[in-house]
Amino acid sequence: MSNQSTTAISAGFSLNAGDYDKAVRYNIQGAKRLIDALPGPSYDNVLDVGCGTGFATMAFVNRFGTTDITGIDPAQGMLDGFRQKLVDHPELQVDLHVADVLSMPVKENHYDAVICSMAFHWFPFKADAAVAMARALKPGGHMAILCSGRGAEEEFRRVLTEIQPPVPQWVGTFDIVQRDIDEMEGYLEDAAGLEIIDIWMERRIRRVPVEEYLERMRVVASHLNAGYSPEELEELNAKVSAATQKAAGPRGFEYTFTKLNAIARKPDTARA
Ligand SMILES: C[S@@+](CC[C@H](N)C(=O)[O-])C[C@H]1O[C@@H](n2cnc3c(N)ncnc32)[C@H](O)[C@@H]1O
Repeated sequence: MSNQSTTAISAGFSLNAGDYDKAVRYNIQGAKRLIDALPGPSYDNVLDVGCGTGFATMAFVNRFGTTDITGIDPAQGMLDGFRQKLVDHPELQVDLHVADVLSMPVKENHYDAVICSMAFHWFPFKADAAVAMARALKPGGHMAILCSGRGAEEEFRRVLTEIQPPVPQWVGTFDIVQRDIDEMEGYLEDAAGLEIIDIWMERRIRRVPVEEYLERMRVVASHLNAGYSPEELEELNAKVSAATQKAAGPRGFEYTFTKLNAIARKPDTARA
């Protein structure tokens, strides 16, 4: 599906980067929980893959005090947001690169930690991405991944399924991006040769105002609208909004969010 390409995905993130931080408060909390799950006591350097505006990096810095940081992301707009935050952190040495996970300009066997928060689900070639991230890791180093898990936002999927005419690119995206524990084990252990030291699915039920829910969707998944004219998009948005309002209760739109978390270690005698 062309609108699931990294070029389209990163263009969508760049376009909406100015609204990203306000729209994804739960991602900020999730990134912190992921970083809190890493073993201590410290890491000399860290690579943040799909770093976006830098939440996970900042959670990492706050916990471990690491100052040698590399971030990669294909969305220039997201990196611009990250750079703005760095103005308040002159103590950090940060290299940011516009790059895809599969062509990162980073050294092999170099990083004590590789982190990837809410980006892995957007990677089209997930096993290859795990291999590329593992390659950058030093033997004995740790990887931490947080991504969308199977079953996330089923309620919204049901809303979308009833929209006429059908919106296959929206409905189909759930299966393209979401993964379960056994699938992540395959990427990290079988493909990348890492040892999983902790892996779990978080399942939370949330109720938020419909406008807040749809705003997050606009900010994180606008690439799915590629191909619609402005008029078609306005019509589609009106239908989705009406259907989501109908599905909402007095406390807002209730949805399930499952987040897949994994912490893995590169063996001391890792494959090259
Ligand atoms: C939901 S944001 C997450 C940003 C940040 N890590 C956070 O926790 O808020 C997903 C990020 O993944 C990036 N991304 C998408 N496809 C990518 C790819 N193939 N390689 C690297 N990053 C990618 C996007 O540009 C976007 O900035």
